[in-house]
Amino acid sequence: MLLVLAAELRPQATPVRQADATCARCHASLFRSYLDTPMANASGLAAENLKTATFVHNPSGVTYSVSNGNGKAVLEARDSSTSMPIGKWTLSYFLGSGHLGITYLYSVDHYLFESPVAWYAASRSYDMKPGLGEMRERPPALPMESGCLRCHMSEVQASDRGTINRFQAEAFLHTGITCEMCHGDSSEHVRSAGKAAIVNPARLEAASRDSICISCHLEGDVSVERAGRSALDYRPGELISSYLAYYVRGGASLTARGVSEVEQLSQSTCKRVSGDRMSCTSCHNPHFTPAPTQRAAFFRARCLACHSQAGFAISHHPENPDCTSCHMPRTGAENIPHVAWTDHRILRQPDKRAFAAATSGDELVPIFSPGATTRDLAMAYYKLLLEGERSYEPRAWELLHRQQDAIANDAAGLDALGNLSAERGDNQAAEQAFRRVLTLDPSDLTALSNLGTLLAKQGRLNDSMDLLRKAFGGNRDVSGLAMNLARVECMAGQSEAAHETLRDALVYNPDLKNLRQLNEQLTSCNAPKSR
Ligand code: HEC
Ligand code: HEC
Ligand code: HEC
Ligand code: HEC
Ligand code: HEC
Ligand code: HEC
Ligand code: HEC
Repeated sequence: MLLVLAAELRPQATPVRQADATCARCHASLFRSYLDTPMANASGLAAENLKTATFVHNPSGVTYSVSNGNGKAVLEARDSSTSMPIGKWTLSYFLGSGHLGITYLYSVDHYLFESPVAWYAASRSYDMKPGLGEMRERPPALPMESGCLRCHMSEVQASDRGTINRFQAEAFLHTGITCEMCHGDSSEHVRSAGKAAIVNPARLEAASRDSICISCHLEGDVSVERAGRSALDYRPGELISSYLAYYVRGGASLTARGVSEVEQLSQSTCKRVSGDRMSCTSCHNPHFTPAPTQRAAFFRARCLACHSQAGFAISHHPENPDCTSCHMPRTGAENIPHVAWTDHRILRQPDKRAFAAATSGDELVPIFSPGATTRDLAMAYYKLLLEGERSYEPRAWELLHRQQDAIANDAAGLDALGNLSAERGDNQAAEQAFRRVLTLDPSDLTALSNLGTLLAKQGRLNDSMDLLRKAFGGNRDVSGLAMNLARVECMAGQSEAAHETLRDALVYNPDLKNLRQLNEQLTSCNAPKSR
């Protein structure tokens, strides 16, 4: 039994109300109304939005309780039958304004995690995070990656080199979406008392204007970072397509799968006929969310700004002032994060059946991604493959293989090629690809851990341990990596090192069955006899 009192990490990120207080000096009313929007409240300090409750998860036999102790948000896990403590963590941040749900983050030794339980608005209670509901044991710690944070926090930083979720400094500078996430660097503007220019989306070219909303409101079926690019570096005024390529399955038009408002709107007659004249801000004021009593009138005025034919407003359904109730109905997807729940196709006669239609066709096609390359397409297939869609393997392989020259300096592409080669049994090609990655970036986690595993299988234990230890150094929370390293250490006769590796990982994954069992199994680690 391990009781872990997580090292307390004082939250340092500031919420929008503090981060953007300077703007309030000159844009006071806009600032005040913005503070009430879901975007301003997309995340924040855990103690400021804490749902205190106890939740029993029967399949795993763990009882979780979220409580407030002296102004601190605390998550505790206990064995349901014995009440023995398993772990206790201080929650630092919440994520989600609460429309659908709220999830919480905590840190242990600079590793950032997501709590295994989340609060769901629909049931007004806690439950396991998606995918963990059926688990019959306590799940491993859930690493929180910067790619996941980038739309919910502001000025998200890259994790330490070669790590998934370790942040020596703050993972993000602010909670909520700050003004600068849409307006870019404001320092000159503030210093010059408003004289120096600042990005105003309304004055940008359509593509860079739309990129701002797209950067957070579009996912596609899959999106990949362009070669050598990080989405974290995107700044308002630029094109998001320089950083990300988005793909959808060809047959899957705008059904209830993870479809965003961006995709739907692009299909509407309003948008297709209006072209660049129309954007998200034709209807939304990003600084203001209308109250429920105002919303019908608010959106009606937006529709009528374009649908201004004489007499239309009076003659067209005078009995119902809410245009959106007929043309932009709710889709029934309210409970699914990252799916539009208001139909942005703006149909003449909304046909809900169109949402249920099954989809076919699994070729990926790019959307909103001018300039997407074959390499990007290959990486998109590869990403779906990693998510478990085995049928994409041949296409990922074929495209990547063809791109060998193009990806000679592209670590992500080479990692993918290395993994696919290894899976296909071509160890030599795999090793070559991973070694190339390590010359580009000696701390690349995929190359270190996968080449390490590959070499272990070939009995090259010392080389393997070198690589795996480098990988584990910055990723001590990753139980799978710990287990691989411990096995190799044991094979090499280094029993004490193997146990220490597992003990390290148990700090972050208290009570994780796999780790404990392996720790017990590794009793006799004998150095291999020389052959
Ligand atoms: C000292 C006063 C002052 C401060 C502080 C200030 N602004 Fe401004 N801002 C102005 C003035 C003056 C204008 C000129 C336009 C106008 O008439 O409103 C302006 C205009 C803008 C515009 C429109 C620019 C355009 O080209 O249309 C944006 C966007 C903006 N400010 C954002 C911000 C943000 C974000 C902050 C905080 C980081 C901020 N401002 C802080 C004074 C200020
Ligand atoms: C591309 C941007 C983007 C990324 C990446 C992203 N989200 Fe979101 N998320 C959104 C947007 C926009 C919404 C709100 C609208 C919606 O649900 O479609 C949202 C909604 C949510 C909600 C519901 C919030 C509420 O108020 O009810 C949760 C919880 C959430 N996201 C968690 C996550 C987690 C966990 C990850 C990482 C695995 C993640 N998101 C990655 C953009 C993103
Ligand atoms: C989600 C993106 C987003 C955020 C966050 C945001 N803005 Fe804006 N802002 C816009 C867009 C888009 C426009 C242009 C609106 C239009 O089409 O006229 C704009 C316009 C402005 C203008 C020009 C005057 C006006 O009302 O149109 C000012 C000033 C401004 N924003 C200040 C701020 C300040 C201050 C904050 C933070 C408190 C902020 N904005 C946060 C997107 C954003
Ligand atoms: C940095 C990421 C980011 C950017 C940029 C961004 N959004 Fe959002 N937006 C979010 C997130 C996250 C949420 C969901 C917040 C929640 O409920 O937790 C959201 C929610 C919304 C909502 C629903 C809440 C409401 O106010 O009723 C609208 C509408 C919206 N965004 C419009 C826009 C528009 C328009 C733009 C471009 C001008 C934009 N957003 C740019 C992240 C972003
Ligand atoms: C930026 C301008 C603009 C805005 C804002 C706008 N529309 Fe449209 N809409 C158009 C144009 C242009 C057409 C095509 C020509 C026409 O019918 O006038 C159109 C067409 C339509 C159609 C017919 C669709 C079809 O397939 O035949 C409907 C219904 C509609 N709009 C409803 C709305 C509603 C409801 C709103 C507000 C929620 C709205 N529009 C906002 C420009 C706009
Ligand atoms: C023709 C008007 C119109 C346009 C254009 C429009 N929206 Fe909306 N949007 C709405 C309405 C109406 C709602 C529902 C608001 C409510 O119920 O309070 C909504 C809701 C949302 C929400 C909340 C989640 C949901 O699906 O209900 C988000 C996020 C959002 N819009 C994002 C966007 C983005 C991003 C764009 C640009 C690609 C956009 N919208 C363009 C009218 C519009
Ligand atoms: C009670 C439901 C309802 C409401 C409310 C409603 N509409 Fe419609 N609207 C319809 C239907 C149904 C049609 C299709 C009529 C047809 O096909 O003959 C339609 C057609 C349209 C068209 C195509 C018009 C044409 O002549 O081709 C537009 C544009 C439109 N609506 C806009 C709006 C706007 C803007 C509002 C709010 C001011 C609104 N509607 C309110 C049900 C509604």
